[in-house]
Order: sequence, then C-alpha cells, then structure tokens
Amino acid sequence: MSKALIIGAGGVGSVVTQKCASAPEAFAEIMLASRTLDKCEKIKALTGRPIRTARVDADRSAEVVALIRDFAPDVVINVALPYQDLAIMDACLETGVDYLDTANYEPPDEAKFCYKWQWDYHERFRKRGVMAVLGCGFDPGVTNIFCAHALKHHFDAIRTIDIRDCNAGDHGRAFATNFNPEINIREITQRGKYWERGRWRETDPLAVHETFDFPEVGPKEAYLLYHEELESLVKHIPGLERIRFWMTFGQQYLTHLRVLENVGMTRIDPVRFEGHDIVPIKFLKALLPDPASLAAGYKGKTCIGCWIEGVKDGRPRAYSVYNVCDHAACYREVGAQAISYTTGVPAMIGALLMVTGAWRGAGVFNVEQLDPDPFMEKLPVYGLPWRERVS
Ligand SMILES: NC(=O)c1ccc[n+]([C@@H]2O[C@H](COP(=O)([O-])OP(=O)(O)OC[C@H]3O[C@@H](n4cnc5c(N)ncnc54)[C@H](OP(=O)(O)O)[C@@H]3O)[C@@H](O)[C@H]2O)c1
Repeated sequence: MSKALIIGAGGVGSVVTQKCASAPEAFAEIMLASRTLDKCEKIKALTGRPIRTARVDADRSAEVVALIRDFAPDVVINVALPYQDLAIMDACLETGVDYLDTANYEPPDEAKFCYKWQWDYHERFRKRGVMAVLGCGFDPGVTNIFCAHALKHHFDAIRTIDIRDCNAGDHGRAFATNFNPEINIREITQRGKYWERGRWRETDPLAVHETFDFPEVGPKEAYLLYHEELESLVKHIPGLERIRFWMTFGQQYLTHLRVLENVGMTRIDPVRFEGHDIVPIKFLKALLPDPASLAAGYKGKTCIGCWIEGVKDGRPRAYSVYNVCDHAACYREVGAQAISYTTGVPAMIGALLMVTGAWRGAGVFNVEQLDPDPFMEKLPVYGLPWRERVS
C-alpha cells in the first residue's frame, strides 16, 4: 500500500485522481496538488475518498520539495503541463521519490518538445536509485507499449510502424482542443517529421494526409505529424526502417486553425498591447473552452493504435493493435471526455505498476523499455480494452 502525489488538476488530473482513488489496495493515500486549489477540491468531491489537496506552483521546485517532504509519497504523477517536467523531476531527485509523466518537456518560449532534457537526468536518477517513467499517457504511452508488446509477442523484427490517432467525436463547439489548447496547438502547427531509412524527413505542417479506415469508426482523413513517441521508439525498437504518426482532423477544425495562424493568434512570443505584453496563444487559451468542459454531451468514439509490419519466423507479417473509447461512456464513469480518459488511465496504471514493483529500475525510462505484459493486462481492467489483428 502506497501514497501517490498527483500534480495538475486539469482534465487528465481529474481522471488520474479518480482512477487512483478507485484502487485503494494500491494507493492507500492520495494528494492532489495544483496551481488552483479550488479545482483540486472539485475533483476531490468526485472521488468520495478523503484525499488531501494542496496548492503548489510546480514551476518552483522548492515548493514541490516541501510538498513531497510533508506528504512523503512513493510516486509523483505529473499531469500538469510539460513546462513543469524538469522542476518536478528536480524535486523527485532531491527527495528520492519516483516520478511519472505523460508529456515530454518543452521550454515555454520555444515550441520544441524533445526528450533530450529529460534523458539527461538518467545518470542522476540512476545514482540516486530513483525511477522516472516518461510519457505514460496514451500517445505517447500506450502506443509505445503496443510496440513493445508487438515486438515481444508477434515479431522477430519490426520494419515499419504507423501510429494512428483518430478522434471521431463531436463536442458541438465550433472550435476547441481536446487537451490543453496551448500545448495542443503548439504541437500540431509544427513542421511534420517522420523517420525513414536512417534519417528524419520533414514535411510542411499538415501537408501529408491520407484516408484511413479506422476500426469501429470508419474512414477518416489522417494528417502526418511529428509526435514525441517517434523519438524514443526510433531509439528503442531495433532495425526500424520507418515510423510515422498520423492524427485525424475535421475540415472545420483545420479552417479555424488556419485562420488563427494567419492572423497571428497562435504566436508564442509576447506582443505589446495597450501597455502590456501578451502572448497571443495564452490569450487564445483563455477564450477557448476548457477541454474538461467538453465532456458533457460529447458523442462518438476515439480509435488509437499501431499498424505494424515486419517479420516472424522468416515470413512477412502485418499486425495491428488498438483501443476504441467512447466519449459518452467516459463521461458516465468519471465525468471526462475520452482524450482525458485515455491519458489518465495509463498514467494511473503506470504508477500502480511502479508502486507494486512490477516496473522497477533506477534511471529515466520510456515506457517501451519496461515489460509490456503487466501493463497490457491492466488496460482492460481499468477501462481501456484493446484488440489486435494479425495477418
Ligand atoms: N500522452 C498523452 O496521450 C497525452 C494526451 C493529452 C494530454 N497529455 C498531457 O497531459 C497533461 C495535462 O493535460 P490536460 O488536458 O489535463 O491540461 P489542463 O486541463 O490544462 O490541466 C493542466 C493542469 O495543470 C495545472 N498547472 C499548470 N501550471 C501549473 C503549475 N505551474 N503548477 C501547478 N499546476 C499547474 C493547471 O492549473 P490551472 O488550472 O490553475 O491553470 C491545470 O489544472 C499535459 O501535459 C498534456 O500535454 C498527454
């Protein structure tokens, strides 16, 4: 029985907290801390358990250290924003507590996410005997574990991977993002990038697209994006010849995005306005719906998975593994939409495997470096059943 400190009381934090609260055999005590205490209290009320709440500015490592010393958790689950990753990792190092997150670090003033900053902590975590698990949401997270599972059970060698993320849901708003708008828009307005025959190849943003027939959802237009799991999978899946990431968008979403970009509303640098510096994308975030607020009335399904080709017993093999998640079912269970749900459940499972000793190690790990079996077994238990097809 252990203690979990969850940092970040947003859409994902709400799901993680409720799911941890539903497993008292693993998480005897829970603390939820975030920048706005009121949000922690609202989530606490959903759990029906006497969890502790606290206010913390996780940009300040010293505040996180003080919180850890007060609560003495076994694991810190970081579901605040990527900007806080390094400050929270510093606090875990100082106090000797395990760490898990769902998104890799990016500096606030540069739209450039990559693992280098966090991989650089490996030696320090190893020497301290502490474990950091990076990117344990759905994508990254479950998609990486799907690849590790495929390699362990279905292939002698993997040649190509296509990760496909489809949200076929409808929230009824003209334009909204399904997770933090600032992080989401920074991600999809970047140049596209994929790995082929030993090197990275770039494309213009959202320039490459194809129609794909998603199981249980149907044909949707999917756009090639650079996504963070590509970086770690290229490193950890031996002999990979190509890996790409695809995400679906509706035409209405793309039209709004194009207009916002064209008028400068997605800029991340400060603009002088009536005597104040404002960052347009932060102002835009204030105007857009809170992603958690989309949950009520959200209809339709997500389908996210990996389509993999390679060799087994000397013969070519094609294999796919995916999850389908229903927005309305997530809302009925935890008051969340499927994007928060599919991120929060894997984060909770990863933390559970760490505190129960199924995932152990000293250093910084991407999830595909850990045993996929206990994770794949727990996915359906906590709400994310998966299906696979071999041909
Ligand atoms: N791997 C995946 O599949 C995946 C998918 C979706 C999202 N994600 C990641 O999940 C994380 C959470 O996403 P979300 O949609 O839940 O975002 P969100 O709704 O914006 O929630 C983020 C929460 O973090 C809090 N926060 C921000 N800065 C903080 C600070 N300095 N100190 C303490 N708390 C702070 C915010 O507090 P306030 O409310 O007071 O601002 C907010 O409650 C993000 O990192 C996102 O990139 C991962």
